Amino acid sequence: MLAKSYPYYLANQPQTSKETMDVLDKYSGKVATRVAVPDAKATEKAIAAAVKAAGPMREFKPWARQQVLQHCAQRFSERREELAYALCVEAGKPIRDSDGEVTRLIETFSIAAEEAVRVNGETINLELARRLDGYHGYTKRVPLGPVSFITPFNFPLNLVAHKVAPAIAAGCPFVLKPAERTPIGALIIGEVLAETDLPKGAFSVLTLDGKHAKPLVEDPRFKLLSFTGSQIGWDLKTRAGHKKVTLELGGNAACIVDADQGPRLDRVIDRLVFGAFYQSGQSCISVQRIYAHKDIYDELKKKLVAAVKKLKAGDPKKKDTFLGPMIDEAAAERLHGWIEEARKAGGKLLCGGKRDGAMLEATLMEGVPTSAKVHRQEVFGPFALLAPFDDFDEVVAMVNDSDYGLQAGIFTDSLAHAMRAWNELEQGGVIVNDVPSFRVDNMPYGGVKLSGIGREGVRCAIEDMTEVRLMVMREF
Ligand code: SIN
Repeated sequence: MLAKSYPYYLANQPQTSKETMDVLDKYSGKVATRVAVPDAKATEKAIAAAVKAAGPMREFKPWARQQVLQHCAQRFSERREELAYALCVEAGKPIRDSDGEVTRLIETFSIAAEEAVRVNGETINLELARRLDGYHGYTKRVPLGPVSFITPFNFPLNLVAHKVAPAIAAGCPFVLKPAERTPIGALIIGEVLAETDLPKGAFSVLTLDGKHAKPLVEDPRFKLLSFTGSQIGWDLKTRAGHKKVTLELGGNAACIVDADQGPRLDRVIDRLVFGAFYQSGQSCISVQRIYAHKDIYDELKKKLVAAVKKLKAGDPKKKDTFLGPMIDEAAAERLHGWIEEARKAGGKLLCGGKRDGAMLEATLMEGVPTSAKVHRQEVFGPFALLAPFDDFDEVVAMVNDSDYGLQAGIFTDSLAHAMRAWNELEQGGVIVNDVPSFRVDNMPYGGVKLSGIGREGVRCAIEDMTEVRLMVMREF
């Protein structure tokens, strides 16, 4: 169901090239398809086209932006199976999760279609004193102009959607560089956008490698850079000059299970298994640290280990596979090394821990020193650690003992604990009675500390890609 090769998109047009880049099936390791590679001049052409398109995109009416976004959502529904299959192959994402990501892709575009006609302003009362009689303030939001996007491998459809759909709703032309290892999703999105009447130059999807992406970061003609990925985002920010920068850089998400959760432990465990191990833990909000109250710790551990041991690993194309490969062998080797290091430092393996190529077993550990990499850094793989806590002050400190802060989860019946978690956890979001891995695409989403800066989620992203313009009107 994959094409033999895929073009890249320059100023709304498909482009082929002599040189191509292989895209591997992440499970078999074989070449699945090829993508065209932009030549040296393509990036400059894409930026120049985006600059030229800034005016026409600003003038492209909200209803017309809405129609483009609705068209995309419709076409993604029609091409659902193809999109899910491509994702399963290029990312090694189990087909169930791939299908779920297509659902989210459609939702993200549908939300953006609704928001496109709701980019509103404000009326401001300026008559604060007699001397200001007759003055009135009004604001509207105007598009920033050309914007650049760099997206990661773990959600090749929906994390592209989180940049592209708000840009269209906001009226910003864009140049996108999708992840090198998973470009197909973005190229199919490009193909669908090329069916629309977006102004010429409104979008380019360039299959660049990291070395050639420098202009997307440094060129001052871009007014915003939105990057999702690793900690290299902070380096990009220092090189981005005066443009706005949004970074979503992951974390080592914690989940608290409170003392009162004994009666519903089975449901909690279902969610922990999902949160820690879906798509092999390759999500920025994957559950990495599980903190359970000492009164329920042993029971939770026993049941969680039993549930994790039952997970079916293997070929992501099979419907009953829960755990597929990591994105490549190097990623699995890296995490396997961290697990070994934690073991040598006194951590106890509860299950998993073995690796075969890019396949790493679903792994649980306890007794891991807080200095270990699997504790301090982002594992971005099928791993979670367990630790008991005594009281709520202690667990708040445990969760906050991290350089990251994207989302945290807490299972509790206590309104007081839920409110304390919301107030005291240093996070972009706190999820009560579910795992930190929960995300719906209209939520504000983003982190504090090393997890990033700015918020995505369609409405927040539109705000980011527009700026407030004030008009003062005097009755004269
Ligand atoms: C991410 O990995 O940052 C995205 C998580 C999600 O959208 O569910």
